[in-house]
Amino acid sequence: MIETDVLIIGSGIGGLSTAIKIAEARPDLSITVLTKTIEGESNTRYAQGGVAAVWDAEVDSYTKHREDTLDAGDGLCDQKIVDIVVSEGPDRVRDIIDWGARFDKKKDTIEYDLAREGGHSEKRILHYKDLTGWEMQRAVMAKTDELPNITIYEHYFAIDLITQHHLGHSVTRLRQDIQCYGTYALNKKNNVIETILARVTVVATGGAGQVYRATTNPVIASGDGISMAYRAKGWTENMEFVQFHPTSLYHPGGDNPVFLVSEAVRGFGGILKSKEGEEFMHKYDPRKSLAPRDIVARAIDNEMKVRGEDCMYLDCRHLNHEDFVGHFPTIYDKCKSIGIDPMKDMIPVAPACHYMCGGIKVDDLGQTTIQRMYAVGECTSTGLHGANRLASNSLLEAMVFAHRIAADILPKVDAWSIQKGIPDWNAGGTTDPKEMVLITQSIKELKEIMSSYVGIVRSNVRLKRALDRLELLYHETEEIYNTTTISPQLCELRNLITIAYLITRSARLRKESRGLHYTTDYPDRAPFVQTNVI
Ligand code: FAD
Ligand code: SIN
Repeated sequence: MIETDVLIIGSGIGGLSTAIKIAEARPDLSITVLTKTIEGESNTRYAQGGVAAVWDAEVDSYTKHREDTLDAGDGLCDQKIVDIVVSEGPDRVRDIIDWGARFDKKKDTIEYDLAREGGHSEKRILHYKDLTGWEMQRAVMAKTDELPNITIYEHYFAIDLITQHHLGHSVTRLRQDIQCYGTYALNKKNNVIETILARVTVVATGGAGQVYRATTNPVIASGDGISMAYRAKGWTENMEFVQFHPTSLYHPGGDNPVFLVSEAVRGFGGILKSKEGEEFMHKYDPRKSLAPRDIVARAIDNEMKVRGEDCMYLDCRHLNHEDFVGHFPTIYDKCKSIGIDPMKDMIPVAPACHYMCGGIKVDDLGQTTIQRMYAVGECTSTGLHGANRLASNSLLEAMVFAHRIAADILPKVDAWSIQKGIPDWNAGGTTDPKEMVLITQSIKELKEIMSSYVGIVRSNVRLKRALDRLELLYHETEEIYNTTTISPQLCELRNLITIAYLITRSARLRKESRGLHYTTDYPDRAPFVQTNVI
């Protein structure tokens, strides 16, 4: 058993920023961070484009960043949260610069080289080549190492949040007084499920891209935190808004995750074209290749369907070779490694699942609907993104909320105590799984269902079919879960089924098309605003 003052589940930008903020302010508190693989593996680590913040006040303003965020969010953003994130964002970027993060500067100057991405009316993206996330992850890990009251437990897989339910009390979703006491976590090194008790718990487990066949998200992104919160009877919000990035590198039989070709490439002048070299984005939006993501992804999807092609293309051949390689060394190398020279060939691209806009419902301080439990980063629904996230607003959101969560926890934490009487995990009566193939095959089936029926374009019939198939998978998986020993793969399958259910269920509740949710049965936007809470 581990007892700690603050438990943080997840070591990406959200989790580690929260840990740093609390550890710096209160060196007397113990902060425990669990992470299911190694500390550096996260969605954060793969972020390419950068972090959006109003930096050059002479040309940019909070009002412009706010308007761009609201416009991308298609009427569903919480304006108060947008104001908070946009106005507090620059200070949080300064924090991470103070912790050692580097961002590219204009040649021979001390001015940051701000980039532009889809949906942004100004250049406001701070970046480190096309490796911004790697650099930010490096910086927060280095800062964490300097703080002795933070302990990182690698290869600890959080399975379930501990609440009154584990003390034998009935817990329903409408109860206002559910409390979180910590988590049960599988120590993957010795296969023992440990009880980790805390005064307060912060869930920072990232996204759920692995619920689709093609995703830019690494394999850790299986929606564990959202599923755990749902099982603990917390509330989730707007799960139907799954963002598909328009331009992942199309490489049949390729990798999981698929490789991202950053939106910054279009910001730099890359143009979307058909195989024949024809531009098509003007048919969909006056901003052409730099329209918000939902519009560009749907346009590419439509062109692929109409033309019977498996991908469209990003033409960068007109761009300066040296500048392109300087800005996008990783993208350039990756393309070359599969025989595409971006300076001579158009880059084949297709949409891929990229970001979860909905998630665990939190308030403006990151507090969930469960007491003593906060959530930060991609696993949350703060209200910032509405129906579609503006590019590069996600790293920013995580840093802003990490700061706010720390500020809310610090004056309260001493009043919370470690809960007594929590039983050990009950593994009685379970045997080792003999049929691993059942789990791997179910994960494949799940991804097929979601990609075929709950993708960029949806309909009533497709959603119903998905729910019917999901129900079968759910029952089969629960049977395995109840009779065999726990493995990370089984837990991830279980969590992914929950995520798939929440996405599909929320999609069925929305009788309109808005932002990332497009259904052929209700192609127009409803005249009212609806938030889907499950
Ligand atoms: P993550 O960084 O994903 O961290 C989650 C952590 O939780 C990991 O450490 C993981 O191991 C841990 N974890 C998960 N489940 C468990 C469990 N059961 N037990 C223990 N630990 C667990 N956003 C931008 O703003 N700008 C960009 O340029 C950008 N580019 C992107 C490019 C790519 C390819 C991808 C995939 C995303 C990009 N994003 C970008 C989105 C952004 O990177 C993420 O939304 C953000 O990094 C999420 O941070 P996080 O801390 O919430 O989660
Ligand atoms: C990208 O670099 O295109 C990703 C940016 C983001 O997801 O915000």
